Order: sequence, then structure tokens, then C-alpha cells
Amino acid sequence: MDSQRESWGSRFGFVMAAAGSAVGLGNVWRFPYITGDNGGGAFLLIYLAIVAGFGLPLVIAEIVLGRTAQRNPVGAFRLLGGRAWPAVGYLGVLTGFVILSFYVVVAGWTLAYIGFMARGLLSTGPQALGADFGRFIGGGSAIAYATAFMALTAFVVASGIGKGIERANKLLMPALFVLLLILLARAVTLPGAADGLRFFLVPDFSRVTGATFSAALSQAFFSLSLGMGCMVTYGSYLRSRERIASASGMVVGLDVLAAILAGLVVLPVVFAFGFDPGQGPGLTFVTLPAVFASMPLGQLFGVLFFLLLAIAALTSAVSILEPAVSLLVDERGLSRTAAAWACAAVALALGIPASLSFGAWAGFTLFGKTFFDLLDFAATSVMMPLGALLTAVFVGWFWAAPAARALSNDGELRQPWAPAWGAVLRFVAPPALAWILLLSIGLI
Ligand code: PHE
Repeated sequence: MDSQRESWGSRFGFVMAAAGSAVGLGNVWRFPYITGDNGGGAFLLIYLAIVAGFGLPLVIAEIVLGRTAQRNPVGAFRLLGGRAWPAVGYLGVLTGFVILSFYVVVAGWTLAYIGFMARGLLSTGPQALGADFGRFIGGGSAIAYATAFMALTAFVVASGIGKGIERANKLLMPALFVLLLILLARAVTLPGAADGLRFFLVPDFSRVTGATFSAALSQAFFSLSLGMGCMVTYGSYLRSRERIASASGMVVGLDVLAAILAGLVVLPVVFAFGFDPGQGPGLTFVTLPAVFASMPLGQLFGVLFFLLLAIAALTSAVSILEPAVSLLVDERGLSRTAAAWACAAVALALGIPASLSFGAWAGFTLFGKTFFDLLDFAATSVMMPLGALLTAVFVGWFWAAPAARALSNDGELRQPWAPAWGAVLRFVAPPALAWILLLSIGLI
């Protein structure tokens, strides 16, 4: 490989970047309402078990793959697997385009809501707020915000690994946690917050069904950015002796911490004002603004909340774009700048009809889904579990012994848990992911 390939400036920089990838809309926007929908504390416990027992091993597998190959996902699978394996890399790169296209739509909303909050443009009361939201997401200005957000993303990626992605994350991730803590202090001191905390933290196992497990499993690998080559790519910018397991542990720990903090912010706020926690995606853009409107200093906290969401989304969007860019830079000799802007333009072209599917194009559906829902479904329910499944099979079964050697830095590190890691990749992850896959495409 050429010696010109960039790498992270420090271990801290890598951990911030990978955590920035993991902590995203999935944590702040999706996790609280999925937890609400699935009965609170019991879901949280199952989620934690799945993240530790299944998510962490997969994160380690993707990072060791990238660090060993020192190249993009396609190149990594070609170098270490040969034969048909590069197809898994291509699947990942393609998945990135699909995720990015709908991710920037929602990210654009967060950007817009910072401004709406700051200028006091939103109505009060959930009814009117719901109407505001519906009108906004269906209109042309939502597309403008998605475009602006995509440009921001492309700008960071075009600036490079060290000067772009690493620098942005080293600044934005600490800021994100500070914002979360400020909001937390406000949320838990609201009168009535205790009901939300109880709902979030006290397990109610009577609400646990098979669907709870599949919801926790899909939330885990979406939140950990697995199954689309993102962690492979970020791992490929690690220097070859860098210790993977402890860095992965930190990344996973920060992701879980952010999700729990987000739940501790959102659910007490929702309960304190007597709203229903199981309201789906509208929880963030309708319920919370209603709450902020009726809270002392609510405007300020509203601005901070949407700023937090936009930061979380930006550091993730950057990581969704990077696998495709690294492929074009490594293998097609494109400049990073050209690759970043070209890939962003393609993803945006897919994102525009997704945005319009909340308005003018709402009538166009396929299999009963709008274009936005179709992209979301294809990526998160089919392509990502498939990618994660194939990656687990590759690292666990085909590349197994060299993978274990690479992980231990050629036997230098004592890792008594390594056999358990291999066993998860071989025997636990493949059936679990196959189950999720079959469940979501309706075969079981
Ligand atoms: N993990 C991010 C989130 O929680 C989303 C993401 C998926 C990022 C896949 C990168 C790759 O929002």
C-alpha cells in the first residue's frame, strides 16, 4: 500500500471519530422512542446485553479487518478474502449511499429546527406543532436544509482524515456530551420527571416478546454503525500496532452512554408534561417542542437540543460517506475532494425524492411504502443485517486464525476472551442476524 495513506493522529482521535460515527440520530432520535415503544427498562436491559455480547464483538471484527488491510472495504475483502468476498465491500459502499440519502433528510430537519426554535417560529400545543412539522417536512425548504447538511458533510470528508474527520470529531463529540449533560440537569429536575425515569429504568418484563429482541438487535447494529463497512474504513486509518479491543470498548461504551443519556433527557421531559412516550419518530420533532414551549427557558433548551441532534447527525453522516470516498481514493485514484463531493451529490440525488415523499410525492408508493420508507427499510432492515451477517461469517469462519493473530498483535497481547469473541462471530452472530433478516423481509 502506498505510504501516502492518511492515518489518525492519535488514539483519542480515532476513538472520538468512531464514537462520533456510532452516536447519531440513532441514539438521540430513535433510541428513546424505541425504548418507549417496547416498554422501557426491560428493553434497556436486553439492549445492553445484546450490545455487550453481540455488538462489541462485531465492532472489533470490522476494525481488525480494516486495520489489517489498511484499505477501503472492497480492497480489504479482496486482499484478505479474495474470490467473491469483495462483493461484501461493494454491498457496504452501496448501503452507505442508501443510508446517507435518508439520513440527511432527517438531519436537515434538525438543522432547520435549531433556527425555528431560536426565532420562536413554532406554534404551541402538540396539535399545531404536528401541523407545523408536517407542512415543513413536505415542503421545498426541507430539501434546501438537506442540501446544506450534505454540503457540510462533504466539506468535512473532503478536508481529510486528520484535518477533517478527526478534527471535527475531537471538537464536536465533547461538545455533544456537554450539551447532553446540560439538558439532563434540566430534564431530571422537572416536576414529574420521576415517572419518566421509572418508565425508562424499572424493567417490566411482561412487555417482553420476540419482537422486543429483534427491535433491540436492529437498534444495536444500526447504532454501532455495523454492516456497511464504516468501522472497517475507520479501522483502516489506524496504525498497524494500535490496540483494537480497548479502543472498541471505549467506542461502544460511549455509544451506550449517549443513548442512555438521551433516554434520560427525553423520557422525563415527555412524562413531566403528560405526553405519551410511544409516539414514534414524531416524539422528537412534535412532542419535545411542545414541551420546550411550556417550560421555563424552554426556547434556550430547545435550541441546545436540536444543536445536539445536528452535531450527532453530522459526525455520523461523515462516517457514512467515508467508505465510498476511500474506495474511490484508494482504487480509482480520485482526489479526496472530488470523491467526497461526487459521492455527496449522488446520495443527495436519492435524498431529494425521499424528502419529497413527505409532501408532493407522498402518493407514490411501492409495496405500500413511500420512497423514504423504502430507502430506510432497504438499508436498515435488509442491507445492513446482510452486510453484518456476511462480515461475521467472513471473520469468524474464513479469515478466523489470521484474524485472531491480527487482533492480538501477533501474540503480543494476552486476550483470554479471544476464543469467546471467535465463538460469537461463528455461532451467535450469524443465526441472530439471519433471524433479523428473515423477520424483516417477512419470511418468518
Ligand atoms: N450509528 C449511526 C446512528 O446511530 C448511524 C450510522 C449507521 C452511522 C451506519 C454509520 C453507519 O445514527
